[in-house]
Amino acid sequence: MSTSSDTQKQMYEAYASSYKIFLKNWQVNRQKALEMLDKHLKSSLPEQAEVSVLSVGPGPGEFDKQFIHFLQQNMAEGQALKYVVVEPNHIHRQIFEATMQSANFGKVHFEMHPMSIEDFQTNDKFDCIHFTHSIYHMPGQERRLILKSLDMLKDGGVVFITLDTEEAVIFKLITKYAEVVGNEQYWQEGSSQMMESNKLRKIIDDIGLSYKFESYPEYLDVSACFEHNSEEGKVLMDFLFQANLSNASPELNQQLLSLVDEVAIDQNSRKMLYLPAGTFVMPKQ
Ligand SMILES: C[S@@+](CC[C@H](N)C(=O)[O-])C[C@H]1O[C@@H](n2cnc3c(N)ncnc32)[C@H](O)[C@@H]1O
Repeated sequence: MSTSSDTQKQMYEAYASSYKIFLKNWQVNRQKALEMLDKHLKSSLPEQAEVSVLSVGPGPGEFDKQFIHFLQQNMAEGQALKYVVVEPNHIHRQIFEATMQSANFGKVHFEMHPMSIEDFQTNDKFDCIHFTHSIYHMPGQERRLILKSLDMLKDGGVVFITLDTEEAVIFKLITKYAEVVGNEQYWQEGSSQMMESNKLRKIIDDIGLSYKFESYPEYLDVSACFEHNSEEGKVLMDFLFQANLSNASPELNQQLLSLVDEVAIDQNSRKMLYLPAGTFVMPKQ
C-alpha cells in the first residue's frame, strides 16, 4: 500500500529529474546576483569571525557552489564559513552533497535541514539569506518569509531573492494553457499562481522595505520540444505549462506546441524562450 509519504517521495524524485533537464537547457546568469552582492558583502564580511549563510531551496547546488567560491575569495584567512541549507527534496539534498564534495571547498561547515522553510526554526543569525529561484514554491507565504528572513539576519546582513520577471514568456504560456483547458480546472490544480518579480515587488513595497532590484536576460532552449517523441521535449513541455501532459490528446499537444512556437525566438538554429530573471537585495532594516 502506498502512503502519502511515498507519494511525496515520488513527487520529489519526478521533480528532481525534470529539474535536471531544465537546468541542462537553461542559459542562466548566476553572476548577476553575485555582482549585486559584491559591494554589500565586501563591507560587512570583514567584521565577522564566522560568516554564516542560509540557502533556501538550493536544489542541486549549482548557484551555491558559485556563491561559496565568491565568498571564499572575499573572506580573510582564518574566517570561518557556515553554510546552512533548507531543502525538503531528498534527491536534491543528495545531489547538493555530491556537488559540494566535488567542489572540494576545504573548510566549510555545512548544515543540512531536510524540511520546508516554513517549518524551519533556529536561533542562529545569518550574514546572508537567499532564495534563488525557490520562492515560487511558497505561495501565499512570501510576506511572512521575507519578514522572518529579515529577523534572522545579523546587523549588516542581507536577504536576496532571485526569480523570473513578469516578462518571462512562461507566464504567457501558462495563461494560454489555462484558457485552453478551462480556467477553473487549471486553478483547481493550483499550479498557475506562479510568483514573479512584479508581484513580489508589490509585497515588498507593501511591507515598506528598501531594496535594490535588477533584471537581466536568461533563456531556455526548447528545441527538444520540437523533436518527435523526445523524452526531454516532453519534460520541458510539462515544465512550460506546469502540468502533466502525459495523458493529453495529440491535438492538445500539437496546440500547445504551436503556442511555444509562437513565443520562441530562433537563435543559431535553436528555439529559445526568453525567461528574464531579477534579483532583489534587501539589507537588514
Ligand atoms: C527551481 S528549484 C531552484 C534550485 C536552485 N536554487 C537553483 O537556482 O538552481 C527550487 C528548489 O526549492 C526547493 N523548495 C521547494 N519548496 C520549498 C520550501 N517550502 N522550502 C525550501 N525549499 C523548497 C525545491 O525542492 C527545489 O530544490
